[in-house]
Amino acid sequence: MTSLITIENIEIKAGDKPILSVPRFELRQGEVLGVMGPNGAGKSTLLKTLALLAPPGRGSVFFQGQEVGDVLALEVRRKFAVALQQSLLLDTSVYHNIAIGLKLRNRSRKEIKEKVAYWLEVFKISHLSKKHAYHLSGGEAQRVNLARAMILEPEVLFLDEPFSALDFPTKVQLLKDMKQVVENTKTTTVFISHDLVEIKYFTQRLIILMDGEIKQSGPTAEVLSSPNEAAAGFIGEWSELLS
Ligand SMILES: Nc1ncnc2c1ncn2[C@@H]1O[C@H](COP(=O)(O)OP(=O)(O)O)[C@@H](O)[C@H]1O
Ligand SMILES: [Mg+2]
Repeated sequence: MTSLITIENIEIKAGDKPILSVPRFELRQGEVLGVMGPNGAGKSTLLKTLALLAPPGRGSVFFQGQEVGDVLALEVRRKFAVALQQSLLLDTSVYHNIAIGLKLRNRSRKEIKEKVAYWLEVFKISHLSKKHAYHLSGGEAQRVNLARAMILEPEVLFLDEPFSALDFPTKVQLLKDMKQVVENTKTTTVFISHDLVEIKYFTQRLIILMDGEIKQSGPTAEVLSSPNEAAAGFIGEWSELLS
Protein backbone atom coordinates (compact mmCIF):
# COMPACT_ATOMS: atom_id res chain seq x y z
CA MET A 1 0.00 0.00 0.00
CA THR A 2 1.27 3.46 -0.80
CA SER A 3 1.93 5.99 1.91
CA LEU A 4 -0.43 8.95 2.03
CA ILE A 5 1.12 10.78 4.96
CA THR A 6 4.61 10.06 6.25
CA ILE A 7 6.14 11.62 9.33
CA GLU A 8 9.85 11.48 10.08
CA ASN A 9 11.98 12.35 13.09
CA ILE A 10 9.11 13.98 14.93
CA GLU A 11 10.02 15.34 18.36
CA ILE A 12 7.43 17.42 20.15
CA LYS A 13 8.01 18.81 23.61
CA ALA A 14 5.98 20.84 26.06
CA GLY A 15 8.68 22.79 27.80
CA ASP A 16 11.26 20.15 28.66
CA LYS A 17 8.80 17.30 28.66
CA PRO A 18 8.79 15.12 25.52
CA ILE A 19 5.20 14.44 24.46
CA LEU A 20 5.73 12.79 21.08
CA SER A 21 8.76 11.09 19.63
CA VAL A 22 8.29 9.22 16.34
CA PRO A 23 11.30 8.35 14.14
CA ARG A 24 9.07 7.34 11.24
CA PHE A 25 5.44 6.49 10.60
CA GLU A 26 3.37 6.02 7.47
CA LEU A 27 -0.37 6.40 7.11
CA ARG A 28 -1.35 4.24 4.15
CA GLN A 29 -3.78 5.14 1.41
CA GLY A 30 -7.23 3.70 2.10
CA GLU A 31 -6.57 2.22 5.52
CA VAL A 32 -8.52 2.64 8.72
CA LEU A 33 -5.86 3.10 11.37
CA GLY A 34 -6.60 2.81 15.07
CA VAL A 35 -4.59 4.63 17.72
CA MET A 36 -4.82 3.39 21.29
CA GLY A 37 -2.98 4.27 24.45
CA PRO A 38 -3.42 5.60 27.97
CA ASN A 39 -4.46 9.16 28.78
CA GLY A 40 -1.70 11.63 28.05
CA ALA A 41 0.16 9.17 25.79
CA GLY A 42 0.28 11.69 22.95
CA LYS A 43 -2.56 10.35 20.79
CA SER A 44 -4.16 13.72 20.10
CA THR A 45 -0.73 15.23 19.50
CA LEU A 46 0.03 12.52 16.93
CA LEU A 47 -3.32 13.17 15.23
CA LYS A 48 -2.66 16.92 15.11
CA THR A 49 0.79 16.30 13.68
CA LEU A 50 -0.55 14.05 10.90
CA ALA A 51 -3.39 16.51 10.22
CA LEU A 52 -0.93 19.43 10.02
CA LEU A 53 -2.64 21.17 12.91
CA ALA A 54 0.42 21.21 15.16
CA PRO A 55 3.78 22.35 13.87
CA PRO A 56 6.24 19.49 14.42
CA GLY A 57 8.84 20.99 16.77
CA ARG A 58 11.41 18.93 14.92
CA GLY A 59 10.95 16.62 11.95
CA SER A 60 9.07 16.45 8.69
CA VAL A 61 5.62 15.63 7.38
CA PHE A 62 5.17 14.36 3.83
CA PHE A 63 1.90 14.19 1.91
CA GLN A 64 1.98 11.85 -1.09
CA GLY A 65 5.76 11.90 -0.93
CA GLN A 66 6.08 15.67 -0.94
CA GLU A 67 7.39 17.45 2.14
CA VAL A 68 4.77 19.81 3.54
CA GLY A 69 6.13 23.23 4.45
CA ASP A 70 4.10 26.25 5.59
CA VAL A 71 2.91 27.14 2.11
CA LEU A 72 1.76 23.67 1.10
CA ALA A 73 0.24 23.05 4.55
CA LEU A 74 -2.79 25.27 3.87
CA GLU A 75 -3.53 23.51 0.62
CA VAL A 76 -3.06 20.01 2.05
CA ARG A 77 -5.14 20.76 5.17
CA ARG A 78 -8.12 21.37 2.87
CA LYS A 79 -7.96 17.69 1.93
CA PHE A 80 -8.43 16.69 5.57
CA ALA A 81 -11.39 16.68 7.91
CA VAL A 82 -11.30 16.36 11.67
CA ALA A 83 -13.99 15.34 14.14
CA LEU A 84 -13.43 15.48 17.87
CA GLN A 85 -15.23 14.10 20.92
CA GLN A 86 -16.97 17.45 21.40
CA SER A 87 -18.90 18.29 18.27
CA LEU A 88 -18.39 22.10 18.51
CA LEU A 89 -21.41 22.93 16.38
CA LEU A 90 -22.25 26.47 15.34
CA ASP A 91 -25.14 28.50 16.74
CA THR A 92 -27.46 27.77 13.81
CA SER A 93 -29.51 25.00 12.19
CA VAL A 94 -28.31 21.49 11.48
CA TYR A 95 -28.55 22.28 7.77
CA HIS A 96 -26.22 25.27 8.01
CA ASN A 97 -23.78 23.44 10.23
CA ILE A 98 -23.35 20.79 7.55
CA ALA A 99 -23.31 23.32 4.69
CA ILE A 100 -20.66 25.61 6.16
CA GLY A 101 -17.58 23.87 4.74
CA LEU A 102 -18.89 24.02 1.18
CA LYS A 103 -20.01 27.63 1.63
CA LEU A 104 -16.50 28.57 2.68
CA ARG A 105 -15.28 26.85 -0.46
CA ASN A 106 -17.65 29.01 -2.53
CA ARG A 107 -19.60 26.09 -3.98
CA SER A 108 -22.87 26.78 -5.79
CA ARG A 109 -26.16 26.88 -3.90
CA LYS A 110 -27.42 23.93 -5.92
CA GLU A 111 -24.41 21.76 -5.13
CA ILE A 112 -24.61 22.67 -1.44
CA LYS A 113 -28.31 21.83 -1.27
CA GLU A 114 -27.85 18.48 -2.96
CA LYS A 115 -24.85 17.45 -0.91
CA VAL A 116 -26.33 18.49 2.42
CA ALA A 117 -29.48 16.52 1.59
CA TYR A 118 -27.33 13.53 0.68
CA TRP A 119 -25.27 13.55 3.89
CA LEU A 120 -28.31 14.21 6.08
CA GLU A 121 -29.76 11.06 4.57
CA VAL A 122 -26.59 8.99 4.97
CA PHE A 123 -26.36 9.90 8.65
CA LYS A 124 -30.12 9.39 9.12
CA ILE A 125 -30.75 12.93 10.35
CA SER A 126 -32.85 14.38 7.50
CA HIS A 127 -35.66 15.02 9.96
CA LEU A 128 -33.36 17.27 12.00
CA SER A 129 -32.37 19.55 9.12
CA LYS A 130 -34.16 22.65 10.45
CA LYS A 131 -33.51 22.00 14.10
CA HIS A 132 -31.14 24.26 16.01
CA ALA A 133 -27.83 22.54 16.65
CA TYR A 134 -27.93 23.39 20.35
CA HIS A 135 -31.10 21.36 20.84
CA LEU A 136 -29.70 18.02 19.72
CA SER A 137 -28.91 14.95 21.79
CA GLY A 138 -25.26 13.92 22.06
CA GLY A 139 -25.67 11.23 19.42
CA GLU A 140 -27.49 13.55 17.02
CA ALA A 141 -24.87 16.25 17.46
CA GLN A 142 -22.09 13.77 16.67
CA ARG A 143 -23.97 12.68 13.53
CA VAL A 144 -24.11 16.31 12.43
CA ASN A 145 -20.43 16.68 13.23
CA LEU A 146 -19.51 13.63 11.12
CA ALA A 147 -21.75 14.71 8.24
CA ARG A 148 -20.06 18.10 8.36
CA ALA A 149 -16.70 16.35 8.01
CA MET A 150 -17.73 13.89 5.30
CA ILE A 151 -19.41 16.47 3.07
CA LEU A 152 -15.92 17.84 2.37
CA GLU A 153 -15.08 14.46 0.79
CA PRO A 154 -11.78 14.47 2.67
CA GLU A 155 -8.81 12.41 1.56
CA VAL A 156 -8.12 11.76 5.21
CA LEU A 157 -10.61 11.71 8.03
CA PHE A 158 -9.24 12.23 11.53
CA LEU A 159 -11.44 11.07 14.40
CA ASP A 160 -10.35 11.85 17.96
CA GLU A 161 -12.53 9.78 20.31
CA PRO A 162 -15.72 10.75 18.50
CA PHE A 163 -17.89 8.19 20.30
CA SER A 164 -16.42 8.46 23.81
CA ALA A 165 -19.12 10.70 25.24
CA LEU A 166 -22.04 8.65 23.88
CA ASP A 167 -24.07 6.10 25.78
CA PHE A 168 -23.71 2.51 24.65
CA PRO A 169 -26.73 1.97 22.31
CA THR A 170 -26.17 5.37 20.66
CA LYS A 171 -22.51 4.57 20.18
CA VAL A 172 -23.16 1.14 18.68
CA GLN A 173 -25.58 2.50 16.09
CA LEU A 174 -23.32 5.37 15.08
CA LEU A 175 -20.27 3.13 14.96
CA LYS A 176 -22.07 0.78 12.54
CA ASP A 177 -23.22 3.66 10.35
CA MET A 178 -19.79 5.28 10.38
CA LYS A 179 -18.09 2.03 9.38
CA GLN A 180 -20.41 1.82 6.37
CA VAL A 181 -19.66 5.41 5.40
CA VAL A 182 -15.90 4.91 5.57
CA GLU A 183 -16.10 1.64 3.62
CA ASN A 184 -18.37 3.07 0.93
CA THR A 185 -16.27 6.19 0.44
CA LYS A 186 -12.94 4.35 0.91
CA THR A 187 -11.77 7.24 3.06
CA THR A 188 -8.37 6.90 4.70
CA THR A 189 -9.15 7.25 8.40
CA VAL A 190 -7.24 7.77 11.63
CA PHE A 191 -9.34 6.75 14.60
CA ILE A 192 -8.29 7.44 18.17
CA SER A 193 -10.15 5.54 20.82
CA HIS A 194 -9.51 4.07 24.22
CA ASP A 195 -12.27 1.53 23.68
CA LEU A 196 -11.06 -1.86 22.54
CA VAL A 197 -14.47 -2.84 21.20
CA GLU A 198 -14.58 0.23 18.94
CA ILE A 199 -11.02 -0.41 17.78
CA LYS A 200 -11.68 -4.08 17.01
CA TYR A 201 -14.82 -3.33 15.04
CA PHE A 202 -13.65 -0.28 13.10
CA THR A 203 -9.92 -0.52 12.35
CA GLN A 204 -7.66 -2.68 10.19
CA ARG A 205 -4.34 -1.62 11.60
CA LEU A 206 -3.52 -0.50 15.10
CA ILE A 207 -0.75 1.40 16.80
CA ILE A 208 -0.21 1.46 20.52
CA LEU A 209 1.10 4.77 21.75
CA MET A 210 2.58 5.10 25.24
CA ASP A 211 4.72 7.88 26.67
CA GLY A 212 4.79 9.59 23.29
CA GLU A 213 6.23 6.55 21.50
CA ILE A 214 4.72 4.00 19.13
CA LYS A 215 5.27 0.82 21.09
CA GLN A 216 3.66 -1.55 18.61
CA SER A 217 1.93 -1.47 15.23
CA GLY A 218 0.37 -4.14 13.05
CA PRO A 219 -2.93 -5.61 11.92
CA THR A 220 -5.46 -4.84 14.66
CA ALA A 221 -6.31 -8.45 15.46
CA GLU A 222 -2.64 -9.34 15.73
CA VAL A 223 -1.70 -6.46 18.02
CA LEU A 224 -4.62 -7.23 20.29
CA SER A 225 -3.94 -10.98 20.47
CA SER A 226 -0.16 -10.74 20.70
CA PRO A 227 0.87 -7.48 22.30
CA ASN A 228 4.61 -7.09 22.66
CA GLU A 229 6.24 -6.52 26.02
CA ALA A 230 5.87 -2.75 25.90
CA ALA A 231 2.20 -2.82 24.93
CA ALA A 232 1.23 -5.83 27.05
CA GLY A 233 0.50 -3.84 30.21
CA PHE A 234 -2.00 -1.65 28.44
CA ILE A 235 -3.66 -4.32 26.28
CA GLY A 236 -3.48 -6.83 29.12
CA GLU A 237 -5.79 -4.78 31.30
CA TRP A 238 -8.37 -4.82 28.55
CA SER A 239 -7.98 -8.53 27.92
CA GLU A 240 -8.54 -9.21 31.61
CA LEU A 241 -11.81 -7.32 31.45
CA LEU A 242 -12.99 -9.18 28.38
CA SER A 243 -11.92 -12.71 29.32
N1 LIG B 1 -0.15 22.50 24.32
C1 LIG B 1 0.33 21.75 25.30
N2 LIG B 1 1.09 22.28 26.28
C2 LIG B 1 1.56 21.53 27.28
N3 LIG B 1 1.37 20.21 27.39
C3 LIG B 1 0.64 19.62 26.45
C4 LIG B 1 0.09 20.34 25.36
N4 LIG B 1 -0.59 19.47 24.58
C5 LIG B 1 -0.46 18.28 25.16
N5 LIG B 1 0.29 18.36 26.27
C6 LIG B 1 0.69 17.23 27.13
O1 LIG B 1 1.22 16.25 26.28
C7 LIG B 1 0.84 14.96 26.66
C8 LIG B 1 0.11 14.27 25.54
O2 LIG B 1 -1.13 14.92 25.31
P1 LIG B 1 -2.21 14.36 24.30
O3 LIG B 1 -1.60 14.23 22.97
O4 LIG B 1 -3.40 15.23 24.42
O5 LIG B 1 -2.49 12.91 24.92
P2 LIG B 1 -3.72 11.90 24.68
O6 LIG B 1 -4.54 12.42 23.54
O7 LIG B 1 -3.08 10.58 24.41
O8 LIG B 1 -4.48 11.86 25.97
C9 LIG B 1 0.01 15.14 27.92
O9 LIG B 1 0.85 14.93 29.03
C10 LIG B 1 -0.45 16.56 27.84
O10 LIG B 1 -0.68 17.07 29.12
MG1 LIG C 1 -6.50 12.98 23.39
